Amino acid sequence: MAELTTLASPLDVGGVKIRNRVFLAPMSGITDEPFRQRAHAHGAGLVVSEMVASGELAKGRAGCDLRIRHSGLPVHMVQLAGREAVHMAEGARIAAGEGADIIDINMGCPAKKVTGGYAGSALMRDLDHALSLIEAVVGAVSVPVTVKMRLGWDESALNAPMLARRAEQAGVSMVTVHGRTRCQFYQGKADWRAIARVKQAVSIPVVANGDVGSPEEAATILEQSGADAVMVGRAHYGAPWIAGSIASIAGGVSAPGIPHTPQALADYVVSHYEDMLSLYGMESGLRQARKHLGWYLDRHAPDISAERRKRILTSFEPGEVAAELCRVFADGAQPTSLRSAA
Ligand SMILES: Cc1cc2nc3c(=O)[nH]c(=O)nc-3n(C[C@H](O)[C@H](O)[C@H](O)COP(=O)(O)O)c2cc1C
Repeated sequence: MAELTTLASPLDVGGVKIRNRVFLAPMSGITDEPFRQRAHAHGAGLVVSEMVASGELAKGRAGCDLRIRHSGLPVHMVQLAGREAVHMAEGARIAAGEGADIIDINMGCPAKKVTGGYAGSALMRDLDHALSLIEAVVGAVSVPVTVKMRLGWDESALNAPMLARRAEQAGVSMVTVHGRTRCQFYQGKADWRAIARVKQAVSIPVVANGDVGSPEEAATILEQSGADAVMVGRAHYGAPWIAGSIASIAGGVSAPGIPHTPQALADYVVSHYEDMLSLYGMESGLRQARKHLGWYLDRHAPDISAERRKRILTSFEPGEVAAELCRVFADGAQPTSLRSAA
């Protein structure tokens, strides 16, 4: 399939070279530094920070630094959310100062706490205001600016092509379109063909997003939308290698670092757990790591008892968790790290 091989080729985003066209979607509370580093190591073309509230960033609130800090990857892309031009501009300057190579603007988040503040996808209800934010960010930094959006607010207002065209005129270098409206949240199936109307409206690269999890789906979304690249989100739950493996299959090579043996999987999960504890500290790390552990268990050990699952997910003893993960994934194995604690 021609579309599949296209995914392996590089893409130019406002002068920044992206190594292939299969991207990890930004997911708040999920695609933090340890996750992005793994996705990159497996071969994802581009990884994006979780969204950062520009107002909080501009005010120097705790936690924002972790979301924007440079993790040493070749392309550092930071996503900003917000509704005040002055905060968006300041947030962009701060992120660029931290080494961001690309700034993305969130105009797609459907969450009530975001749209209630007229940010995220609520911006699609007022394109003039959306444009004022885009212009403020483009004017504030010299790095490329991109926008992530949905098809529109609801079925009666599918204005993504108009927003994309105006964003391009304002200097935006790439747009990503999730093929759902805000009012759909995550229900139904993403409309991949509707993304084609955005592609026809602009000449900058368009990234298609929504419900992709396999090479076949990646090729089909590209074919139906005519888009230049694919972004993959939830399919990464319990498998940070999905984007990398799609890109590798597209390029006819094998993706680096995928754990293929039980022992390798056990080590992989333990090391992800360990990285999260060291990034967030014990208390917050334990809480944040649980959802990932749950997804790893759902995906790779779906048959373990509810009691065992609960024990892993609620334990406050990292050594005990690591040892139990090893028993679950690689019966009898010892964790490579945290070994002394186990
Ligand atoms: C838990 C969660 C958090 C998300 N956080 C963000 C975010 O911070 N910024 C953003 O632009 N989109 C966010 N999204 C939307 C995803 O980037 C993506 O557009 C959406 O999940 C559809 O792609 P998928 O079907 O491949 O998951 C989030 C989605 C989920 C499920």
